[in-house]
Amino acid sequence: MRIYVPMDSAAVALGADEVAQAITREAQARGIEVQLIRNGTRGMVWLEPLVEIEEDGRRIGYGPVAAGDVPALLDGKLDSLGPVEEIPFFARQTRLTFARCGLIDPLDLDAYAAHGGLAGLRRAIGMTPQEIVAEVTASGLRGRGGAGFPTGIKWKTVMEAEAPQKYIVCNADEGDSGTFADRMIIEGDPFVLIEGMAIAGLGVGATRGYVYLRSEYPVAIRVLEAAIRIARERGVLGADVLGSGRAFDMEVRMGAGAYVCGEETSLLNSLEGKRGVVRAKPPLPALEGFLGRPTVVNNVISLATVPVIFEKGAQHYADFGLGRSRGTVTLQIAGNVRHGGLFETAFGLSLGEVVNDIGGGTASGRPVKAVQVGGPLGAYMPVEKFDTPIGYEEFDSQGGLIGHAGLVVFDDTADMLRMARFAMEFCAVESCGKCTPCRIGAVRGVETIDRIAEGDGQAVELLTDLCATMKEGSLCALGGFTPYPVMSALTHFPDDFACERKEAAE
Ligand code: NAI
Ligand code: SF4
Repeated sequence: MRIYVPMDSAAVALGADEVAQAITREAQARGIEVQLIRNGTRGMVWLEPLVEIEEDGRRIGYGPVAAGDVPALLDGKLDSLGPVEEIPFFARQTRLTFARCGLIDPLDLDAYAAHGGLAGLRRAIGMTPQEIVAEVTASGLRGRGGAGFPTGIKWKTVMEAEAPQKYIVCNADEGDSGTFADRMIIEGDPFVLIEGMAIAGLGVGATRGYVYLRSEYPVAIRVLEAAIRIARERGVLGADVLGSGRAFDMEVRMGAGAYVCGEETSLLNSLEGKRGVVRAKPPLPALEGFLGRPTVVNNVISLATVPVIFEKGAQHYADFGLGRSRGTVTLQIAGNVRHGGLFETAFGLSLGEVVNDIGGGTASGRPVKAVQVGGPLGAYMPVEKFDTPIGYEEFDSQGGLIGHAGLVVFDDTADMLRMARFAMEFCAVESCGKCTPCRIGAVRGVETIDRIAEGDGQAVELLTDLCATMKEGSLCALGGFTPYPVMSALTHFPDDFACERKEAAE
């Protein structure tokens, strides 16, 4: 009997380890042979711990399972969810980047290869750097960290730069609230990131890679370090990548938990052992990055998407999507929502479909008031904008941004003035202090919102003016994007700012 119990952090937080232990104990007591596989998550967080039992080649799901349910599970008396891949939330997805996540033991390289892994790297080995970069460009892949910059153009800049050493740096400092795609893929399918980084190395001529992983993700660090060791032992990494005669190796570096270190230049400073403050651009990291050398800085999901592009071809990937947003987007649905989790789909679904049809509306059962898309620096989208398609330009035209594709849902009890205040306070706390609009502006922003809360209506104009200054004058996205949540809250929910002698927010 083969049973899968996820080892993903979210599943473990919900009791997966206890369930796994109970299965082992109960099987021993009954004298039945159970092969227990700790897989990644399928991304349906509300069903975790989601246990799967393989029957006649199909995987039947049970969830959420508690340790006390295990005797009934082994007796066949627990209600099942049916085949996992037929659960509507899962069946509606287009899983390209996350194809193997939840399917296999994350550290089983043979299982990885049996499910399409390494095919992309093998193909890339037979290509010239120019062909590799052209393939990424043709796929239409854009940076999934948030900015949506074309990955192929970034790689071309690094490829064409002359230097004795180049680097691939993976930004795994996933700091946006409501986002977890980077963590899930590293915990559930780490070889796909390793393969993507190796292909990037071959493409731009970099022999060394670093994954800057936040310290709040200890499981991801452990899994990725183990996967790198295995990849090295099996010749996927090292001086002779899969017998190609070309070298690429990589290591994990742990970040200490500053939000601003997710900004690429601040990340590079931190990686070099310096304080994590933002550097002015230019020079671009593509030309002068880690240790002053040409460096590709890509997000985890961008790099983890590269193998499937090489396995199935750029056109296959580019055939999905909408407008200039090609391929799939890994939506992370969180907050006050019934069905939270990771949903990979082609760009183009409307925001309303994602929140209501896929997410199932609010967990509280109350009407949705707003959805913050794109992390703490993303705009609050009101229900009136629910027909906006998920796409970079489509969101931009509505005053929003997709960012790292996290969605946090709020019901009608949310006070948008408090949410705006939170955004300013977040910026004030996380500011690296390098530029004035952010360092001083965010502090003044909190004070100004408090004045509005106390009934000073004239402070609204001041807040608007301050946001314009921060947007135009900040050196990086932290100060420059904080106006998005603040101004969207003010614009779409003016009633929450029409305060009469209200107590100051704490
Ligand atoms: P950006 O627009 O300045 O740059 C995007 C990327 O393209 C950078 O890597 C930049 O170096 C590169 N680039 C630009 N022109 C280039 C050229 N000609 N050749 C080669 N490379 C070039 O945006 P930035 O500041 O890097 O990122 C802002 C985004 O980060 C925001 O949209 C926000 O959503 C997102 N973000 C994501 C977080 C997360 O946890 N994933 C956290 C905070 C912000
Ligand atoms: Fe630092 Fe804020 Fe300026 Fe960014 S906007 S450089 S975080 S002070």
